[in-house]
Amino acid sequence: MQDLQQLQEEALALFECLDTPHALEDAKARYLGKTGALTERLKSLGSLPHEARKEVGAQINQVKSVISAALEERRQALAKQQQDRELSASALDITLPGRQMVERGGAHPVSRTLERIETLFHGMGFAVAEGPEIESESYNFSALNIPDDHPARAMHDTFYLAPGYVLRTHTSPVQVRYLESHPLPVRIIAPGRVYRCDSDVTHTPMFHQVEGLWVADSGISLAVLKGLLSEFMRAFFERKDLPTRFRPSFFPFTEPSAEMDIGCVICAGQGCRVCSHTGWLEVLGCGLVQPKVLVPLGIDPERYTGLAFGLGVERLAMIRYGVDDLRTFYENDLRFLRRFQ
Ligand code: FA5
Ligand code: MG
Repeated sequence: MQDLQQLQEEALALFECLDTPHALEDAKARYLGKTGALTERLKSLGSLPHEARKEVGAQINQVKSVISAALEERRQALAKQQQDRELSASALDITLPGRQMVERGGAHPVSRTLERIETLFHGMGFAVAEGPEIESESYNFSALNIPDDHPARAMHDTFYLAPGYVLRTHTSPVQVRYLESHPLPVRIIAPGRVYRCDSDVTHTPMFHQVEGLWVADSGISLAVLKGLLSEFMRAFFERKDLPTRFRPSFFPFTEPSAEMDIGCVICAGQGCRVCSHTGWLEVLGCGLVQPKVLVPLGIDPERYTGLAFGLGVERLAMIRYGVDDLRTFYENDLRFLRRFQ
């Protein structure tokens, strides 16, 4: 009996200090295996006197179940240790910043301005038309009453392409193209890119205009033109007190002609380099369509009257957003562009 007790203590102490599953299984064989200490003792029960067998057998089984239980407990403890080690070796470090693979994009401020202009004119009954950016000299100039030798051609700083073709210098040729192919009355805007060899705080070589054209046999006058554009500007800038003015001007394809200015937002009309110290920024040209444009298209100027305008989109964007150099829209500096998101 004392010997069994000692065996049990020895086994339990041994299991405690073994620290691999392999060593533990070897130790199990030493006690519970085919030739293990307890198995041997059970085998030798036969040699005991009959009365003693039952009692010794029970003691051996008792020790066997204590050892088995201790063995199982140690197995589980070792498995848990192993798992903990594995988990801590491959742990996720959630403090590591994620990879920024995709940057959030957004519409360019000039695109947003264009959309805003289109929405407002759509609300006033204007349809949208388009024309080519590579334009013939005849649509860009001649059909608009700008003859070959006319100084107005020089005013536009034209990019000439193959003989007879230019990068359009304004969206006005769309007026002619649209009138050629559509019945009257017409009421359209024509947004798009235009090009001029020009660069300073209020000019870029590529910029956007929105042309407007409304031709009908009644209801059109200079007063209507002025009212329409003033109403548009108040809606666009969301300001009833927006300072605006119409200045008499000259375009060969309108008569009378005017240019519309808006009070400079950069200096609040005090005068600065953006407004060339005038307190005003020019945003568009406009007028009543010249009969010399209508007649070659078979339109009777005694019966039909047209109003037209061409506004500078970047100018409107710069005033709305308070940008003091128009060129920054096209420098692709993300720090600048992100401010509009
Ligand atoms: C014209 O281009 C005429 N076609 C406008 C017009 C249409 C008059 C219909 C009458 C009837 P102008 O050259 O002034 O006009 O240009 C119109 C507007 O475009 C200017 O008021 C200005 O806002 C803008 N603009 C002109 N050049 C540039 C440039 N280089 N960069 C940015 N905006 C410009
Ligand atoms: Mg002008």
